[in-house]
Amino acid sequence: MNVPSQPAPIRLPEDWSPVSWQSFNASQQARYPDQNALDEALKELADLPPLVTSWEILSLRQQVAEAQRGERFVLQGGDCAENFDECNSQVITNRLKVLLQMSLTLIHGLQMPVVRIGRFAGQYAKPRSSDTETRDGVTLPSYRGDIVNSPEFTAEARHPDPRRLIRAHACSSLTMNFVRALVDGGFADLHHPEYWDLSWLDHSPLADEFRTLAEGIGRSVRFMETVSGRRAGSVERAEFFTSHEALHLHYEQALTRQVPRQVGYFNLSTHFPWIGMRTTALEDAHVEYCRGIRNPIGIKVGPSVSAAHLLELLEILNPHDEPGRIALIHRMGATGIEKHLPPLIRAVGDAGKTVLWICDPMHGNTETIGSGIKTRRFRNIMTEMDLAFDCHRDNGSRLGGVHLELTGENVTECTGGARDLLEADLDRAYKSTVDPRLNYEQALELSMMIVRKHQNHAR
Ligand code: PEP
Ligand code: CO
Repeated sequence: MNVPSQPAPIRLPEDWSPVSWQSFNASQQARYPDQNALDEALKELADLPPLVTSWEILSLRQQVAEAQRGERFVLQGGDCAENFDECNSQVITNRLKVLLQMSLTLIHGLQMPVVRIGRFAGQYAKPRSSDTETRDGVTLPSYRGDIVNSPEFTAEARHPDPRRLIRAHACSSLTMNFVRALVDGGFADLHHPEYWDLSWLDHSPLADEFRTLAEGIGRSVRFMETVSGRRAGSVERAEFFTSHEALHLHYEQALTRQVPRQVGYFNLSTHFPWIGMRTTALEDAHVEYCRGIRNPIGIKVGPSVSAAHLLELLEILNPHDEPGRIALIHRMGATGIEKHLPPLIRAVGDAGKTVLWICDPMHGNTETIGSGIKTRRFRNIMTEMDLAFDCHRDNGSRLGGVHLELTGENVTECTGGARDLLEADLDRAYKSTVDPRLNYEQALELSMMIVRKHQNHAR
């Protein structure tokens, strides 16, 4: 891993400490009825080993800086919400597999290195539109992610339990451990498209084009193996970074540490924490917390964010405009992106701020259909992605990454895609406890669509 050889002078934030967020308004927090039990769990958590290291975080910062200069593309993806009972080898392997195959498609098609960032090993806390949920006249606390409570609609399941903080750390470290082992073991076969599941291609209107792309990847892999005399995947470690929404501030604080020979504090629960759309108010405790840590930070940017607000956020979170520090993850929706994104791109460009722009085409395209199920249409996801490339090009900027909710499992949560999943299919394999995810085939198809768009732009 490349750590910057000559670190830039580090300027630490003033009046900040890992607990300073506590004097700000912390929205979206669980209300634990038993303060002593919470304090005890947090004390235990603060003594547990970290999940990532400071040098990995600094390496990611360097790579984000490269992506800001157009030298890399970021692929960030994973579950909307991880669940404790899905902390198992099949789910983890399949998720890594789809991310790796997507990244190889992007590397080959965009002709540049890809930074792989998983939404895993800590994506256990969820923001909710309401503190409570009412069903048939019964009102209970909302499900806030497995780190807080459980999704079943019973008083017992919805009771916020501080011991879940410890379980979240344990599941994150089990996930991290297995991911590191898989990566170190070399996923050699996964580099060969002949081992990919491409049966969906026959159903795509772009089958020929996509088949050519897959064959091109195969040829490159074989060429590289011939030249190096080694199996692809054993030549270079496929690096994965982790990310999650830094929502549960007590959890984040407990994993915020100083390390020998480095100044300042690192959030060692993840490489890349992000601030969710509901917690980006300037006076919100989440902004205060993120201000002081040295990790690169993602900021979700929705349609209600004004250019003035965004510039103020950048001033707070990156006052010295350091490269590699900020990624703006816009999630406007297919119908809103052309109206809401260009003014923000221009404002950031005019102010000369260094950011990485990432498109999240998922969260602005969520719909609830008649049966009460949340879904997203593949067509809308694709349209937003497509328009994101155009908006950046037309406003003197560059789209540097994509942020997706996906799984390697064969779920039916989003409609459309090559197999044209219908609303009637959703019941068949709908597993998400929060937002609908792309399945393996839809995710791979999306990566091929991104390549196609990129190549059309380049022509
Ligand atoms: C999410 O990424 O799961 C999420 C809740 O996103 P947002 O904050 O953009 O709504
Ligand atoms: Co989500």
